[in-house]
Amino acid sequence: MKNTTIEPHGGKLVSRILEGEEREEALKRVRELKSIFVSSRVISDIELISNGAMSPLEGFMGREDYESVVRDMRLKNGLPWSIPITLPVEKDVSKEIKEGQDIALLDTLGNPIAILHTEEKFTYDKKREAKEVYKTTDENHPGVKVLYSQGDVLIGGKISLVNLPSDIEFIEYRLTPLQTRCSFIERGWKRVVAFQTRNPIHRAHEYLQKCALEIVDGLLIHPIVGETKSDDVPADVRIRCYEVLIENYYPKDRVMLSVLPAAMRYAGPREAIFHAIIRKNYGCTHFIVGRDHAGVGNYYGTYDAHRIFDNFKPEEIGITPLFFEHAFYCRRCLGMATTKTCPHPAEFHLHLSGTKVRELLKAKKDLPPEFTRPEVARILMEAYESF
Ligand code: ADX
Repeated sequence: MKNTTIEPHGGKLVSRILEGEEREEALKRVRELKSIFVSSRVISDIELISNGAMSPLEGFMGREDYESVVRDMRLKNGLPWSIPITLPVEKDVSKEIKEGQDIALLDTLGNPIAILHTEEKFTYDKKREAKEVYKTTDENHPGVKVLYSQGDVLIGGKISLVNLPSDIEFIEYRLTPLQTRCSFIERGWKRVVAFQTRNPIHRAHEYLQKCALEIVDGLLIHPIVGETKSDDVPADVRIRCYEVLIENYYPKDRVMLSVLPAAMRYAGPREAIFHAIIRKNYGCTHFIVGRDHAGVGNYYGTYDAHRIFDNFKPEEIGITPLFFEHAFYCRRCLGMATTKTCPHPAEFHLHLSGTKVRELLKAKKDLPPEFTRPEVARILMEAYESF
């Protein structure tokens, strides 16, 4: 189906969602199948594979795709793909699973979410994955920590979705790639920039978004609402921040809020490629990559997530990355700027780290309006009191 100016990754928007009679049959059959519980991270991958956000993936990676992605940032057919999408299970569980067998995948409440059509099972080298994908083997890295704690065997195979997870949140904002694509057409947007975030939107984010909006038709604010690390602001608080910001500071006919139910990997540069490809599948033509995109601590260089795009031809990625330097409020310019546009020394630049923001909130001190819009600051302050 061609309903927007940008093709999905690999040329076709995947759908692995069972509907109608097929679903009814599968729901009956699923009760008789061997079942395994899967983590919330795997559940979010299932949702994104089945609704086409991870096109061309139709399931969890088999060995050849996995090895090729870890080593070369490409699927075995050569298509760029930077993050392994895998289904890990413990060794003793894997012994009961046979290649060719259908398995019911259950969420943490025991509800069947999908059927996995097992194609292969294989062991893998976690240290190697950490080194290649996360660029560190340090178990303090939140992505590496998850990797080290997961099962030792990977199960590959296509999936068929029978139910969305039972504890699904933010339904009204949870648009599928087909829905965002249709919405862009309805709005008459041909060029759409996506903004990935795991934070409340502060002034630097707003600056990036509005600079980008000057050259395209619409902005998709697309926050991640899957698993994040414990000191990130919870998704429900962030959603309220996005709503109040859009209400007060954005032109309604040029902005759309929708959520991405993906887990954060904190894989920095590799995750920037992954984030861009996913947004292409949602129908966006441009993607914002700022400073230390999807980074954490000091694991990545400030602009590594820009440079990684040089490994691919622009047409291989398809979506156009818009690279931004570190943005800040300048007390001499009296406005937002970056090192590219402001000549003044750093002493005039207001930049607050996440730690500093938490300190201010803890001390019940106002966040400066040059950093965060007061409406957003108020929500954060109230939420912080109840943390
Ligand atoms: S991320 O993990 O989703 O990258 P965050 O929500 O902070 O974290 O950032 C969203 C986007 O804004 C990313 O592209 C990031 O690089 C960019 N960004 C965040 N802060 C700044 C800043 N001060 N200057 C430039 N880009 C920034």
